[in-house]
Amino acid sequence: MTDTATRSINLLTAVPGPKSRELVARREASVVAGLGKATAIAVDHASGATVTDVDGNTYLDFVTGIGVLAVGHCPPEVVAAVQAQAAKLIHMSALVATYESYVELSEQLNAAVPISGPCKTLLSNSGAEAVENAIKIARAATGRQAIVAFDGGYHGRTLLTLSLTSRTFFKKKFGPFAPEIYRASFPYAYRMGLSEAEAVEESWAAFERMLIAGVDAEAIAGVIIEPVQGEGGFIPVPPEFLRRLREFCTRNGSVLIADEVQCGFGRTGTLFAIEQSGVEPDVIISAKSLAAGMPLAATTGKASLMDAAHYGGVGGTYGGNPLACVAAIATMRLIERDNLLGRANEIGQHIRQRASTWLKQQGRTALVGDVRGLGAMLALELVRNRETREPISAQETLSLVDQCVQRGLLVMRAGLYANCIRLLVPLIISDEQLDEGLDVLEEVLIG
Ligand SMILES: Cc1ncc(COP(=O)(O)O)c(C=O)c1O
Repeated sequence: MTDTATRSINLLTAVPGPKSRELVARREASVVAGLGKATAIAVDHASGATVTDVDGNTYLDFVTGIGVLAVGHCPPEVVAAVQAQAAKLIHMSALVATYESYVELSEQLNAAVPISGPCKTLLSNSGAEAVENAIKIARAATGRQAIVAFDGGYHGRTLLTLSLTSRTFFKKKFGPFAPEIYRASFPYAYRMGLSEAEAVEESWAAFERMLIAGVDAEAIAGVIIEPVQGEGGFIPVPPEFLRRLREFCTRNGSVLIADEVQCGFGRTGTLFAIEQSGVEPDVIISAKSLAAGMPLAATTGKASLMDAAHYGGVGGTYGGNPLACVAAIATMRLIERDNLLGRANEIGQHIRQRASTWLKQQGRTALVGDVRGLGAMLALELVRNRETREPISAQETLSLVDQCVQRGLLVMRAGLYANCIRLLVPLIISDEQLDEGLDVLEEVLIG
């Protein structure tokens, strides 16, 4: 248990407090209803691993803006870089002229990605935009149209990326969706009730069947996969499955695209999650923790592929904005200086160690059925029954999340059945803060 003197959580009012309620009411009157929110609090400021709301309540943040803040909230080095850049050049547009931060960040990403040979980078504003760029480039490079995506995959909410996204909850009345997208089976061993090796065999057999019954291999421009599924419930792709996809893409002349928007940039204990499988993608997508909260995403890949889009065919007004680029350069420096990859592994081991006891305990309203992920990208899958693995309802998960928030811990759901609690702690968190947050989670889940 955490010593009261070192506690980070400090609640002054009931949660949400009166000022949060007031601001949320204004939001509801002025902002579209379709923009969901994981908590009912309104935030004033944040620092490191903590967030303070407009009522003065301080929370530990295990969501970090949905996995954006590996380096924590407002790290002074990033703040200083952004402030200095703002005084010099806020916007130019790489479509108009060249500025050094865009070039320097691209050089650094080209050198950092786990892809051999010369690489090139295209910057954009969001994960979805970077995914769209990867698809456009794969199509331009191969002259083919079909894209294979996976069950449970999440790639964004623009119409092309929503077409790639699997979970119907996100799609509802938004069709028609983009054509030439084919969905393959994802080896989700826990929910298939299989060992990892068996799940690989089953999903691979389905992949081969898809090539006969669904889409001709010669039509496939690219295969897009998250090396650790994010929204799908933090499920690492078994390395053997990635190796088979790599072999297929090489043999078939298709582009293997690793969507590392959520699992990339240090969270899993390597800069990119796919490094741990030894598989090289052709194109890799970064966003979220890349720029410590500044809106930035990158599509990086083999230069021969990346240059396939025609001159003027890619880009946008804001993509690779100078403020975001300097934030990313400062973030990469911090990840290296503070050995945050090593810290991600330590955090992951510590959470696993504590959560492994929850796997054997009787929960208050739900059971922890599975603890999984890679490095510090970990989730708990909650079930009613450990034998049948029946998921608890989305509403029940939400109620558990609310109980955590009311005790001062911000967490968020994930999973195809919305029955997972994902943990995206900032990698700069102290041991005491980590345990304080895990104490809250334990109290809510186990009692
Ligand atoms: C794997 C993955 N791809 C793409 C996206 C879309 O990114 P954005 O929300 O920045 O558009 C996300 C967002 O969560 C993601 O997790």
